[in-house]
Amino acid sequence: MDFELSPEQREIQGLARDFARQEIEPHAAAWDREHRFPREVFTQLAALGLMGTCVPEEYGGSGADFLSYILVLEELSRADAGVGVTVAVHTSAATLPLLAYGTEEQRARFVPPLARGEQIGAFALTEPEAGSDAGALRTRADVDGEGWRITGAKQWITNARYAGTFLLFARTDQDQPGARGVSAFVLDAEHVRVTRDEEKLGLNSSATNDIVVEGALVGRDRLLHEEGKGFKVAMGTLDGGRIGIAAQAVGIAQAAYDVARAYAKERHAFGRAIAEFQAIQQKLADMSTQIDAARLLVYRAAWLKDKGESHTEAGAKAKLFASEMARQQTGEAIQILGGYGYTKEFPVERYYRDAKITEIYEGTSEIQRFVIAREILGLAQRTFTQG
Ligand code: CAA
Repeated sequence: MDFELSPEQREIQGLARDFARQEIEPHAAAWDREHRFPREVFTQLAALGLMGTCVPEEYGGSGADFLSYILVLEELSRADAGVGVTVAVHTSAATLPLLAYGTEEQRARFVPPLARGEQIGAFALTEPEAGSDAGALRTRADVDGEGWRITGAKQWITNARYAGTFLLFARTDQDQPGARGVSAFVLDAEHVRVTRDEEKLGLNSSATNDIVVEGALVGRDRLLHEEGKGFKVAMGTLDGGRIGIAAQAVGIAQAAYDVARAYAKERHAFGRAIAEFQAIQQKLADMSTQIDAARLLVYRAAWLKDKGESHTEAGAKAKLFASEMARQQTGEAIQILGGYGYTKEFPVERYYRDAKITEIYEGTSEIQRFVIAREILGLAQRTFTQG
C-alpha cells in the first residue's frame, strides 16, 4: 500500500493550488455576493490544461489520471466551491461519458473542444418531477426520419447558461416505464433554450438553470451508446461524478478548518488564545480527523476508478461521508469563530452554505445509502463497465 502521490500528481495538485490561491480565492467572496459566474477563470484553467485534466492528450486533454483530476477539484473547491462544481460537471458529467460511451467519431468530434476548455459541458438528467427518481424523466425523443425530435424540460442544470455541449437524457421508448427506454443524446447549445437562473442558498458563482428543448431535430450521430441504454450511461457517469463531489466537499471542509485553526491561535479570550482551551482543541482535532478520513475515502474511490475497477460502492461511500462531514465541520468552524463566523467578515458562513449542496446533488445522502446497501447486500445484479 502506497499513500504517496506520484511526482506528476503532486505537480498538478501544486499547479491547481497556486492558481486557486492567486486567481480564485481573493475574488470568491465578491462572486458569492454578486452571484457572478467567473467565465474568464475557465479560460485561464483551460490554458493550464485543467479543463481536461484526465482526458487523453489525443483528445485535447492533459492525459493525467483520475486521481490527479480529483486533486484539482479539491484545490479549486477549497478556494471557491462554485468554480469546483463547474469544473466537476464539465469534466466528470459531460466530457468523460463522451469518451467512455462515444463512438470514435463522436469522441473525435465532441471531446476536444470540451477538454481544451473552448466549450463548457452540462449534464441534463433532472426534471421537475424526476430528481432522486431519475428514471421517471419525461423528456421525449420521438423518431423523426433518420433521427429523433426531442421535447422536454430539465431543471437545476449546472452550467447550462454557459454550456456549448449537453449530455441530455430522453425517453425513446414511451411504452417502457422507468429507467428502461431512456437514451442519452449529445446536444449543442442551439438545441437548448435556457429559461431560468436558479437562486440558491450557496454556490453563487456557479450557474444552475432550467432549460427547455423545443422539438430539436437530431440525427443518429447524436445518440450516445445504444438506444434504450441511456440510464446505464447516466448511472455509470454518476458513479465517477460522485467521487468529484466528494472531493469538492473535502476542499470546502479543508478551507473551513484552515480558517478556524488560524483564528483559534490568534483570538484571545479569558487571557489566552482560544486554541489553548480544550473545548476548541477537541473541535479542531475532530475536524482534522474527519477531513483525513473523508479524503482517504475519496482517494481510494479515485484509485479504484483509475484501476478500471468497480467504484459504485466506494464512490457512494466517499460522497456520503465527505458531504455529511463537510456540512458538520463547516458548522463547527462557525462555532469556533463565534459571532464573527456568522458574519460576512470571514468566509466560513459561505463554506457552510456551499457545503450543504454536496449532500444533495449527484444523488442525495439517502440515495447514496440506497446505492451502498444494494451493493453490500448483493442486490445490484449487473456487470461493471467503466464509465
Ligand atoms: N452502473 C451501470 N448501470 C447501472 C448502475 C451503475 N452504477 N446502476 C444502475 N444501473 C442500471 C441497472 O442495471 C438497470 O439496468 P437494466 O434495466 O438493464 O437492468 C438500470 O440501470 C436501472 O437501474 P435501477 O433499476 O437501479 O434504477 P432505479 O430506477 O431503481 O434508480 C437510483 C436507481 C440509484 C435511485 C437512480 O435513480 C439514482 O441514482 N438517482 C439519483 C439521481 C442523481 O444522482 N441525480 C443527479 C443529477 S446530476 C447532478 O446533480 C449534477 C450536478 O448538478 C452537480
